[in-house]
Amino acid sequence: MTQNIRRVRKAVLPVAGFGTRVLPATKTIPKEMLPVVDRPALHYVVSEAIEAGIEHIIFVTGRNKGAIEDYFDSAYELEDQLAKRGKDDILKNVMSTITEPGSMSFVRQQAAKGLGHAIWCARDVVGDEPFAILLPDVLVKAERGCLAQMMDAYNEVGGNIIAVDAIPEERVNSYGVIAPVDGAQRDGNLIQMSGMVEKPPIGEAPSNLKITGRYILQPDVMGILKHQAAGAGGEIQLTDAMATLMNVQPFHAFEYEGQDYDCGSKLGYFEAVAAYAAAHPEIGGPARAIMREMSGAG
Ligand code: G1P
Repeated sequence: MTQNIRRVRKAVLPVAGFGTRVLPATKTIPKEMLPVVDRPALHYVVSEAIEAGIEHIIFVTGRNKGAIEDYFDSAYELEDQLAKRGKDDILKNVMSTITEPGSMSFVRQQAAKGLGHAIWCARDVVGDEPFAILLPDVLVKAERGCLAQMMDAYNEVGGNIIAVDAIPEERVNSYGVIAPVDGAQRDGNLIQMSGMVEKPPIGEAPSNLKITGRYILQPDVMGILKHQAAGAGGEIQLTDAMATLMNVQPFHAFEYEGQDYDCGSKLGYFEAVAAYAAAHPEIGGPARAIMREMSGAG
């Protein structure tokens, strides 16, 4: 690692959203806690952060999200019961959700003002060091986690890195989209960028490379977010602040290996459950057989 590349120790996970696209399921359960086979979607995202070397997770949370704090805490009665009944395998799984004491922080976003505002709410806990952001709506299924792949690239080039993936043109208006530098040399999975825009109208997007929901950013973005005006959808957009930061700091897009699923939508959630069930060590075989049977039945 080059000397002036500072290590990324903290990750911000914004979890304050209502989950309106999957109501009424999310009326009483935070959307991040919806199960994907045998664990909440959020568990996969936290595991991805830890695999990448993250030591401290900062949740930007809101009302009715208490289940998230409890999930990563010890559940003494449950653990005691499982131990007494000799259910060691299950106990091991339950204990795996408990993180190092003091390695999680929770800050509140009182009003839904957008992703940029949610990230800014974490500024004091992030402090003056580079940090990662993982949007927990998005699961990325990959052999090596998406953030770990990005971290490898970061350790080479430093600066700011965002994960991108090609999508069909007709979906660009649902995402942040990057503008790659014309004719720039590709450096492995890294792409040089000249700009980015949040939710461009179809036909006006600078490329078909969408921002996937994994970021490594320098802390300077917080100062920009503080004064960031509302953008697309009337919300304070992280993409707009990053576009400003790009003018003064190195910024790369990173095309990761893996498949992403948008668990905030009904179809994306269904697809995630199917993909994770098919790959599950315990139920993968029968799950694939069921899916084959269902598709055969038309
Ligand atoms: C957010 C970001 C967007 C990104 C997307 C990934 O949008 O603002 O740039 O492409 O997540 O899922 P949202 O899905 O919150 O509208």
